[in-house]
Amino acid sequence: MKIYLPLDSAAVALGADDIAEAITAEAQKRGVAITLIRNGSRGMVWLEPMAEVATEDGRLAFGPMTLEDVPGLFGDLEAHPKALGLTEELDWMKRQTRLTFARCGIVDPTSLHDYELHHGLKGLKRALGMTPAAIVQEVTDSGLRGRGGAGFPTGIKWKTVHDAKASQKYIVCNADEGDSATFADRMLMEGDPFTLIEGMAIAGIAVGATKGYIYTRSEYPIAITQMQKAIEVARAAGVLGPRVLGSDYAFDMEVRVGAGAYVCGEETSLLNSLEGKRGVVRAKPPLPALQGFMGKPTVVNNVISLASVPVIMDRGAAFYKNFGMGRSHGTMALQIAGNVKFGGLFETAFGLSLGEIVNEIAGGTASGRPVKAVQVGGPLGAWFPTSLFDTPFTYEDFAAKDGLIGHAGLTIADDRTDMLKMARFAMEFCAIESCGKCTPCRIGAVRGVETLDRVAAGDPSALPLVADLCNTMKAGSLCALGGFTPYPVMSALTHFPDDFATAKAAAE
Ligand SMILES: Cc1cc2nc3c(=O)[nH]c(=O)nc-3n(C[C@H](O)[C@H](O)[C@H](O)COP(=O)(O)O)c2cc1C
Ligand code: SF4
Repeated sequence: MKIYLPLDSAAVALGADDIAEAITAEAQKRGVAITLIRNGSRGMVWLEPMAEVATEDGRLAFGPMTLEDVPGLFGDLEAHPKALGLTEELDWMKRQTRLTFARCGIVDPTSLHDYELHHGLKGLKRALGMTPAAIVQEVTDSGLRGRGGAGFPTGIKWKTVHDAKASQKYIVCNADEGDSATFADRMLMEGDPFTLIEGMAIAGIAVGATKGYIYTRSEYPIAITQMQKAIEVARAAGVLGPRVLGSDYAFDMEVRVGAGAYVCGEETSLLNSLEGKRGVVRAKPPLPALQGFMGKPTVVNNVISLASVPVIMDRGAAFYKNFGMGRSHGTMALQIAGNVKFGGLFETAFGLSLGEIVNEIAGGTASGRPVKAVQVGGPLGAWFPTSLFDTPFTYEDFAAKDGLIGHAGLTIADDRTDMLKMARFAMEFCAIESCGKCTPCRIGAVRGVETLDRVAAGDPSALPLVADLCNTMKAGSLCALGGFTPYPVMSALTHFPDDFATAKAAAE
């Protein structure tokens, strides 16, 4: 009997380790031989811990599991009170286009054998038969854009590093994942670490880098362990090392752990932290692509950008490019959180409307009350009211509505949410997380909190100051932490003026 139970942090937080122990004990008690595989999550967090039992027809899902539900896994499975049917037939799974997360929740995360059984290493093998320039061209042609937030074309970044002349180049994977409502990087590293390793190895071969670093945060202990285990396995199998899969290319990598500061996700701050310095933003130019880690040409890419490369190299640029809408090609791993009925990870081609995502896929709010707004793109993203729910989920459409998709985290809020408090929270977050390098952010965010407090206290003269301050931060900040904090603030003010007026009236 083969049973799958996620080791994913969300599942573990919901009790997966206790369920695993109980399954093992129950099997021993009954004298049943089982193989218990701790896999990644399928992304349906409201069903975690979700156990799966392998059958001839496919895997049957059971969840959310409690200790009382464990003995039933050894009885009549159809009659099990938590039986959900075949995992692949669940609506949430069927509606997705899983390219980057194709293996997550399916494979045994640190089994290279299992990885290869599920198309693993095919992209790397194809890349090894191509010239580095041709690999860069393939990634460019796929239309892949950075999934970390800025949406910069990955192929163009790679070409800059490829064309740079240097004795040493680096691949740095940005796995800091500090945005609110985001967990795709963690899920991928926990559930399918070889995909990231493969993507980084392809990147290294493409640009001439022989060393890679994954920069992540100490709050991700399971992801760190899984990545380290997978790197060791890959090294022992010759996927990493002086001769990648027996070729003349060398590539190796390691995991580096930061203490967890939001600004350390900003690429230049990350590089400082990686070099052992304080996580403070560097002025650009020089671009990291030319002078990055230790002053050498460096590709800095998000986990999901790099983990999307194997499928692009395996299936070809055209295959990937055909998904999506406009200049937003391929798929995006939506991360749905906040006050929501069905929270989790949903990978889909760009182009669904925000309303479809929130109302149909996420099922509206957990509280059952009307949705008031959705913050898209983390703490620096704009709040979208329901009147903008027809906005297609693409880089361009969100930018056109003064928003951003960022790393595709969505925080859903119901009608009880006070948008003035949300605006204040954005300023407070910026004040706390600011690296302090530039004045508009370091001082502006503190003044922003004070000014919004004046609004809340009923001072009508403070409101124009908020807009003025936001303009200054937007135009004058060195990086997007100070530069984008105005998005949540101004979107709250623009779309929900009553919340700001009500505060005034209440104080009068
Ligand atoms: C304050 C701040 C925090 C950021 N945090 C992250 C992060 O956690 N992960 C990430 O991939 N990119 C983050 N970014 C974006 C990175 O600076 C950079 O654009 C990205 O790593 C490039 O990779 P990509 O092109 O693959 O997206 C952040 C940017 C800013 C300004
Ligand atoms: S905007 Fe803020 S976080 Fe960015 S460089 Fe300036 S002070 Fe640092």
